[in-house]
Amino acid sequence: MELQEQIVVITGAGQGIGRSIAEAFAREGSAVVVNDLHAESAQASTELIRAAGGRAVAAPADVGDRAQVEAMFAAAKAEFGAVTTLVNNAGYVPYHPAADYPPDIWDRTLATNLTGVFHCSQVAIQHMTERGGGSIVTIASVHASATLPGTLAYAATKAGVVSMTRTMALELGERSIRVNCVSPGAIATDGLKAYFDSLPDDERAAAHTTLMSWHPLGRFGKPEDIADVVVYLCTERAAFINGANIVADGGMLARLF
Ligand SMILES: NC(=O)c1ccc[n+]([C@@H]2O[C@H](COP(=O)([O-])OP(=O)(O)OC[C@H]3O[C@@H](n4cnc5c(N)ncnc54)[C@H](O)[C@@H]3O)[C@@H](O)[C@H]2O)c1
Repeated sequence: MELQEQIVVITGAGQGIGRSIAEAFAREGSAVVVNDLHAESAQASTELIRAAGGRAVAAPADVGDRAQVEAMFAAAKAEFGAVTTLVNNAGYVPYHPAADYPPDIWDRTLATNLTGVFHCSQVAIQHMTERGGGSIVTIASVHASATLPGTLAYAATKAGVVSMTRTMALELGERSIRVNCVSPGAIATDGLKAYFDSLPDDERAAAHTTLMSWHPLGRFGKPEDIADVVVYLCTERAAFINGANIVADGGMLARLF
């Protein structure tokens, strides 16, 4: 167990990559604050962690709502003490063509994926300053670097959080707060299933085959592949990694054609 002193808030941890990250921190002995928009899924992840002997509390909140974020961090502090670690994982992934992009979906995507990172990070910085240091990891995406049709708002937010990571890393080093991000490729979660489900029936199988063919390792990622990177970034072994964007995509972005 490497992270027994850490008190970690993980957003969007009710399923998928976030749940896997929450379970990984709990296995390392951290106290885990399991955020999600959906109270039932936050509770379900919390119960899984407790059943395995870990420490966790459910913290339902919308990361795009400042008041809810502040209340969540206050509750975390009351339960475990000031937060040492934040994993910005919550994400919303809609698909629409740019020319017809619905403005309300644009607003919701930015509120969750970009402003949510701002709210959670800014409140977490107060806690980490009080603790004398900390670590922030944001789950970006390969869409920050190269993208696909239909992802106008999503790709913009992911490029945005990579940029926010650099700025925060530059400013917060003097407080011993390291700030990094991880850019997953295709990870087998309900989020990836929703992408395939969004395609017309006659395109789905071909899209699956194409996406798989872009992976030199011959498989999609597992949530645990990302959780391992995030946990590593929050250990002392990563003490000199700051302002980095770690790509964990099985080699997908290495391809030109
Ligand atoms: N799965 C992939 O292939 C993949 C690839 C690259 C990046 N990512 C990123 O990884 C993260 C997790 O992806 P996933 O596939 O596990 O997604 P997912 O859709 O399975 O889970 C996302 C979770 O975030 C929660 N959430 C959504 N909006 C929220 C809000 N406003 N406040 C709090 N919680 C909210 C959802 O309820 C859900 O439980 C996302 O940021 C996503 O963009 C995923």
